[in-house]
Amino acid sequence: MKTIAESETIYTELMIPSYANFGGKVHGGIILSIMDKVAYVCASKHSGSYVVTVAVEGVEFLSPVEVGDLLTIKASINYVGNTTMIVGMRTECFNPRTSHTRHTNSCYFTMAAKNDDGTLKEVPGLIISNHQQLVRFCEGKLIRDLSKKKREALKNNFAEYKVEELKELCSLEKCNVEFLK
Ligand SMILES: CC(C)(COP(=O)(O)OP(=O)(O)OC[C@H]1O[C@@H](n2cnc3c(N)ncnc32)[C@H](O)[C@@H]1OP(=O)(O)O)[C@@H](O)C(=O)NCCC(=O)NCCS
Repeated sequence: MKTIAESETIYTELMIPSYANFGGKVHGGIILSIMDKVAYVCASKHSGSYVVTVAVEGVEFLSPVEVGDLLTIKASINYVGNTTMIVGMRTECFNPRTSHTRHTNSCYFTMAAKNDDGTLKEVPGLIISNHQQLVRFCEGKLIRDLSKKKREALKNNFAEYKVEELKELCSLEKCNVEFLK
C-alpha cells in the first residue's frame, strides 16, 4: 500500500513560441505530450516500475494556452485497479505579467505497470486518507466502468448493418446520405 502523497507530481513549463500553432496559441498536442510525461512520472513512482499509457479520458481544452504562459500540471493517483492506475491531471496556466491563473484542462490518464519482460505488473494499493481522495477514488472507479461500457458498445459492428438500418440511425443527424454510383 502507498499513500497518494508518495507519487503526487507537479511540473511547470514555460510555453515557448515553437509550441504555437498558426493561430498563435499552444498546440493541444504539445500539452498532451507534456501531460503524458507527467502521468508517467506519477504512475511510475506509485508502481515502482516502467509504465505505459493505456487510455486518456475526458480531455477538454477549456481555454487556449498562450505563448509566455507558465503551464503547471498537477498529477496524482486517483484510482488503482490490479495492474492499472488512473492518474488525475489538472492543468493551470499562469500569466506572469497579469498574475492571473486559469484552469485550462482536467483529464484522466490510465497507465499500466509493466515488468521488464513486458508482462503486466500488479500495482500497490492506495492508502486513502481524506474525503477528497475518497471522492476521487470513487470517480476513478466510475470512469473505469464507463470506459469499459464504451468499449463494449463500440464493438457493435455497424459494417454488418443493412444500409436502411444505418440510414435510420442517422436520420436526425446533420448529414445527407447519397452514395456515388
Ligand atoms: C492496454 C494493455 C495493457 C491491455 O493488456 P491486456 O492483456 O489486453 O489487458 P487485460 O484485458 O488483461 O486488462 C489489463 C488491465 O488493463 C485495463 N485495460 C485494458 N484495456 C483498457 C482500456 N482500453 N482502457 C482502460 N483500461 C484498459 C484493464 O481494465 C485491466 O486493468 P486492471 O489490471 O487494473 O484490472 C495492452 O494492450 C498494452 O500494453 N497496450 C499498449 C500500451 C502502450 O504500449 N502504450 C504506449 C503507447 S505508444
